[in-house]
Amino acid sequence: MHTLADVDKNKIPKHVAVIMDGNGRWAKQRGKLRVFGHENGVEAVRRTVENCAKLQIDYLTLYAFSTENWNRPKLEVQTLMKLLVASLRKELKTLNKNNIRLKTIGNIDSLPSKAQKELQEVISKTSSNTGTTLTLALSYGSREELKSAVKEIASKVKNNIISLENIDETVINTHLYTHFLPDVDLLIRTSGEQRISNFLLWQIAYAELYFIDVFWPDFSEHHLVEAILSYQNRERRFGKTSEQLN
Ligand code: IPE
Ligand code: IPE
Ligand code: MG
Repeated sequence: MHTLADVDKNKIPKHVAVIMDGNGRWAKQRGKLRVFGHENGVEAVRRTVENCAKLQIDYLTLYAFSTENWNRPKLEVQTLMKLLVASLRKELKTLNKNNIRLKTIGNIDSLPSKAQKELQEVISKTSSNTGTTLTLALSYGSREELKSAVKEIASKVKNNIISLENIDETVINTHLYTHFLPDVDLLIRTSGEQRISNFLLWQIAYAELYFIDVFWPDFSEHHLVEAILSYQNRERRFGKTSEQLN
């Protein structure tokens, strides 16, 4: 079984994004309620964040709650929000100890005010950290993000702040929630599902995709390492030929 030490330090992906999926099924397998899976998912988050910090991954983005997840049973949504607040409170020290800076993407205004307050506090108390940037995608939906960006750009064109001719990829990037992030290099999804579920559609244009048949609460150091080793063994051609790269 591979460990962190097996990773090539010269080929670390700059931006790793994770669709943390399978908490509900993990609990069901054990004859428990879905929320039990979410509670156990928190430990996998902590493990993954710490391991990414150890690997000096610059950007780690975690899909924690989608715009569509609001349609889940009320009790489940409430539990997820409570877990978010409790974990933020608990993890502040560890984030600072590991030099991790917290950020968010998504419609943060739609979260309960307690969660917003807690997030603001941890974001501001970790803002001067210079290690890994941990971004939580909360009430995040890629289509909503693109819709907001289009609206904002259209309004700027209308008010002569930017001209139509000047709209390019950089302009679009700067109007996304992710304006402070580079493109995703490696996207991992747990649980065996092989879909994107409205996550970072624009930003994964050239990401390497890695699907693993393990439920999120069981995702451990060696799973993360396997994903990164797989990434390191791939040739990213960005449209060019293999010969052109060498
Ligand atoms: C991922 O696990 C956590 C969230 C979406 C919040 P799920 O809750 O989706 O678990 P499954 O996919 O139903 O097993
Ligand atoms: C995606 O998982 C969202 C998060 C992991 C937060 P879902 O469980 O909501 O995705 P679908 O519904 O299976 O596509
Ligand atoms: Mg799921």
